[in-house]
Amino acid sequence: MNNLISHSHIWATLKNHQKYLAPVQMQDLFALDEHRYENFSIEACNLLLDYSKNRLTKDTLHLLEQLAIKVKLEDWIKKLFNGELVNNTEHRAALHIALRNRSNTKISVNNKDIMPDVNKVLAKMRDFSNIVRDGKWLGYTGKPINTIVNIGIGGSDLGPAMVNRALRVYQHPSLQSHFVSNVDNSHLDDILQKINPETTLFIVASKTFTTQETLLNAQTARNWLIDKLGDDAAVAKHFVAVSTATQKVVEFGIDPANMFGFWDWVGGRYSLWSAIGLPIIVMIGMDQFEELLTGAHKLDQHFATAPLLENMPVLMGLIDVWYSSFFGTTSQAVLPYDYTLKLFPAYLQQLVMESLGKHVTRDGNSVDYATCPVVWGAPGNNGQHAFYQLLHQGTHIIPTDFIVAIESNKENNDNLSSAEHQNAVLSNALAQSHVLMMGRNLEKTKQSLIDMGIQGSDLTQQLPHRVFPGNQPSNTIVYKKLTPQVLGTLIALYEHKVFVQSVCWDINPFDQWGVELGKNVANTLLSELQTENNNTHDSSTNGLLNYIKVNRRDML
Ligand code: F6P
Repeated sequence: MNNLISHSHIWATLKNHQKYLAPVQMQDLFALDEHRYENFSIEACNLLLDYSKNRLTKDTLHLLEQLAIKVKLEDWIKKLFNGELVNNTEHRAALHIALRNRSNTKISVNNKDIMPDVNKVLAKMRDFSNIVRDGKWLGYTGKPINTIVNIGIGGSDLGPAMVNRALRVYQHPSLQSHFVSNVDNSHLDDILQKINPETTLFIVASKTFTTQETLLNAQTARNWLIDKLGDDAAVAKHFVAVSTATQKVVEFGIDPANMFGFWDWVGGRYSLWSAIGLPIIVMIGMDQFEELLTGAHKLDQHFATAPLLENMPVLMGLIDVWYSSFFGTTSQAVLPYDYTLKLFPAYLQQLVMESLGKHVTRDGNSVDYATCPVVWGAPGNNGQHAFYQLLHQGTHIIPTDFIVAIESNKENNDNLSSAEHQNAVLSNALAQSHVLMMGRNLEKTKQSLIDMGIQGSDLTQQLPHRVFPGNQPSNTIVYKKLTPQVLGTLIALYEHKVFVQSVCWDINPFDQWGVELGKNVANTLLSELQTENNNTHDSSTNGLLNYIKVNRRDML
């Protein structure tokens, strides 16, 4: 227990430092330093990070830097980039950086340079996507493909779906893509109603090719296609697979020639840069996908070389550790003021919470400190009309990331008022982070109400409800426009921020044992739902099983 980081001297120093800073108002820190914005913001890889609206000082940053040194962060970054077995419970490397290694420097796994294999898959995907995009991949009835349906879940869905939505303005004008993930039949059924079997290509995306939801959806889609086109032979023309499990792909009935492989050193939630990105490549083309890779690679190089306190993912990771482990915050909001990033919060939920939602250290010792925050969010302006009340006048400290595009990626230019819309987005983004930080004290609130003509007992009654406590911390990330390269940089920024936090908390961010037990029990209950087995579980599960069976019978 004593080798826990929370028993270190620097940890105790940070705890004391937090006690000193807890009552400090950020607005007073701004008043003390007219250059606070300049002193607490950095630019890198076409991103600006303004971290000045945080409850910290330069002393805080230097103490956090000491923490990073104590946990040997720079050594861990080297291990990550050198392909060491940083995923210690699965004895694997985590080399998503190799997938976008545009410098093509040698990166080895088991003493073998993996770059030739990475480049071979990229070349195969370039050829395949060009054939589809050029209308030369013909379906069973001889018609060109115009619809892509990705069947996958978790990392085999969230990343590609998020990127496709974000980069929709770059997509092939004659192609459309859909993403099916949930095993609730209404999800697949909703898509099957919309598509033409003759012109649809299904991409079955599954690293393990054992995921119940994906295999059931893929089997149903396969049956649907055969039913519509009247011949099993149609499958070869309308199904491709993305996986590491060749034998399982063959067993499903997909030709291995139509399989795009990747490797066990690619984690599911870090896999959109691999063949899991195939739906992205088909929709935006390999040239633009390589721009996405380039953007991530630039951030990788920044992460691997920039000094700790000039390193964007390091700063963001340390600041999150500061709040989670020393302010005791339990959630973090991500608020894109760029509507094309509407799926980014959902993507981050897996990236962050499946990586950092752990309670034991790499050596298996229970932690005695807080780790991963609950990550949530929505496009900024929508949030303002949904949950910002809690942010402004609730009882939680909720660190927030504002993600702001200076110019939006509009899909057509006939909307003459786009400048008006964009100014509305920008003014709201800056206003919200300002008010969250500044708040409005009793005195200013009273004057504001008097100016509105509120007086007497009404003023007395209203006043406490109209005060804004403020001092809510936020980062603001700004970029000019969401190009593939900028998006790649932004995604890699969060991947490496997660890694920084994992090192500070001494946890393995690359495994996900916590998702296994639920799957196993589901398989047990699946059989019990289908038979009259006596239920041998807790009374709630038994009661619910029986209620479903009784009511299902009544519905027959
Ligand atoms: O949620 C558990 C998980 O294993 C994720 O880590 C993964 O992204 C998802 O399920 C899908 O797994 P697969 O790509 O193997 O179908």
